[in-house]
Amino acid sequence: MFAHLSLEDILASYDDRAPLSNAFTIPAPWYVDSRIADLESASVFSTTWQMIGRADQVSTPGQFVTGNVAGEPIVAVRGSDGQLRAFYNVCRHHAAKVVTEPCGSASLLHCPYHGWNYGLDGSLKGMPEFEGVKNFERGDNGLVPVKVETWEAFVFVNLDPRAGSLNAFLGHLVQRCAPLGLAKLHYFDRRVYDIACNWKVFVDNYLDGGYHVPHLHKGLSSVLDYKQYTIENEDRYCLQSSPMVASEEDAATGATRKGDRAWYFWQYPNLMINCYEGYMDTNLVIPVDVDHCRVIFDFYFADVSESRKEHNAQSVAVGDRVQAEDLGICEDVQRGLKSRAYGAGRLSVRREAGEHLFHRLLAADLKSGLGRAAAAD
Ligand code: FES
Ligand SMILES: [Fe+2]
Repeated sequence: MFAHLSLEDILASYDDRAPLSNAFTIPAPWYVDSRIADLESASVFSTTWQMIGRADQVSTPGQFVTGNVAGEPIVAVRGSDGQLRAFYNVCRHHAAKVVTEPCGSASLLHCPYHGWNYGLDGSLKGMPEFEGVKNFERGDNGLVPVKVETWEAFVFVNLDPRAGSLNAFLGHLVQRCAPLGLAKLHYFDRRVYDIACNWKVFVDNYLDGGYHVPHLHKGLSSVLDYKQYTIENEDRYCLQSSPMVASEEDAATGATRKGDRAWYFWQYPNLMINCYEGYMDTNLVIPVDVDHCRVIFDFYFADVSESRKEHNAQSVAVGDRVQAEDLGICEDVQRGLKSRAYGAGRLSVRREAGEHLFHRLLAADLKSGLGRAAAAD
């Protein structure tokens, strides 16, 4: 549909210097052109810190967790020396996935294809029937390492060997979250949503400062003091926050979404952390292709004892319902973005500052990514 436009033209069609009151959203081709999706994979997802799992999944030697970043299979594993490491989860023999379970514990990483074994430190330990192979250095054929660090309850990796620290990337978010005691909460359950929309449609929907909440989420709306909703942009994050009110209107929401304030953190590009009293859920938005994304919701609670099981399950169900409400609208938006009637939209100054930050950060990364690609040609 936009094939006649060059990638340079598509990027140039967004003005990232316009102040919010004059700003447009990023234009429709950014959401529907697969060249943009490829550029994002190379210059956003391959260069930013990406959450891959939970710290509690890799707390003792031998524990591992696997995931995908920018389409690359990754494994993070705690070594016998207590050190956390991460690797491309790709066998050096014929490229099979070495660790095939989502998480678990092992003393060796064993490739299921021809039985090569790697140590927890990634070093190649053994290759069956490989005698007589010339010019092969076992020491040069370990799993290829990736940067890994932890923050609060989460494990992050970064595919860019020149990347700065996770702390520098998160910036002031670290201090901002510290009083909330996120690491003290316990993982309870996960929901995975496959959505027929570009990953940015989901992020935009999250970052509209509650604009859609009274219209789309009647239950959630009943516990938020919508008029007092605040939006703060800083570094690479946006904090949307709202005072809470007790509600009888929707019993399940009122019983499971409590506290003085709701805290909704978004960290560029694709991570959300949502907190109420004794509650947190994280949303990780993973692009699948230009028209599809997968969103992983992990639910955590202060108390995950047996006596709270029913309450916690009810809380997850409330999250699930809100999610279903968002899902339909996100898929509608993706269809609308392909319409010949739509080019780009305006932003509410009161509500949509978070989207403005997102679009500017993304534009900066894509423009510098394209510049690097051109310099390399
Ligand atoms: S691909 Fe892993 S052992 Fe052959
Ligand atoms: Fe929503």
